[in-house]
Amino acid sequence: MILSGKAKLAGVLGWPVGHSRSPRLHGFWLDRHGIDGAYLPLPVRPERFKAAVRALADLGFRGANVTVPHKLAAGELADRLTERARAIGAVNTLVFGEDGILGDNTDGVGFLENLRAEAPAWQPSDGPAVVLGAGGAARAVLVALRDAGVPEVRLVNRTRATADRLAAELGGTLRPLDWSARADALAGSRLLVNTTSLGMAGQPALALDLAALPPEAVVADLVYSPLTTPLLAGAAAQGNRTVDGLGMLLHQAVPGFAAWFGIEPQVTPELRDFVLADE
Ligand code: ATR
Repeated sequence: MILSGKAKLAGVLGWPVGHSRSPRLHGFWLDRHGIDGAYLPLPVRPERFKAAVRALADLGFRGANVTVPHKLAAGELADRLTERARAIGAVNTLVFGEDGILGDNTDGVGFLENLRAEAPAWQPSDGPAVVLGAGGAARAVLVALRDAGVPEVRLVNRTRATADRLAAELGGTLRPLDWSARADALAGSRLLVNTTSLGMAGQPALALDLAALPPEAVVADLVYSPLTTPLLAGAAAQGNRTVDGLGMLLHQAVPGFAAWFGIEPQVTPELRDFVLADE
């Protein structure tokens, strides 16, 4: 990589940030498109976050991704928020412009774009969706499903009060349910999404009886380590279409790259293999 004096710069702010795949992912696209630019890992302590963002803007960076634990602080710091960032209540993408700092959240759209790519037969209007979990990742998925026009979302969470609060806030089509109702909630659904950490390497598997899941339902897991979670293995074994969590990570990166570097990049099998090769 050889940069000119006009190189476009971006990066990912996190603490820690060493585990982030974003530099590799954006680096692949920068290289592929021959762009005079760079995307850097930017480890920043929570108490230094706001000062660091202002410094990046002063240094002429185009913007940055924001990951744990800065997603809420990024929303507070932005001069303007996109509609979806406001609805999700967190920011994962900052774009620095003449008129200040724009905060966006591309997690929901990344989830939806990946779902459309991996399960093209699925349509939002097909029927109810079941979402497991009511944390930060769930918020992005819930807003995306609501905005796409899914007629009913059954929100199942271990702590019922959190699901109730989220349903009251996001409104309309959200139906909170007890964790113990998760197997029954699958009846008549067309989409099941796991947003909890269950099934992740080092965590317990998600205990869920899939007997009531219709054969045409798509099963998506946000967990991507391992790629094939016990949930996805169980769903595939009974013939359901499955969507793993890596694609969401790749697709959520597209809008930021386009805003900073001026080219809309593609999510391809080659990109997927390249990001996975870093294991
Ligand atoms: P993220 O940003 O990844 O969504 P989070 O905000 O900490 O992380 O949310 C984690 C979600 O996984 C929550 O819905 C949590 O349920 P609670 O609201 O009851 O805490 C869920 N979760 C985590 N561990 C779980 C477990 N062992 N069983 C069921 N749900 C679990």
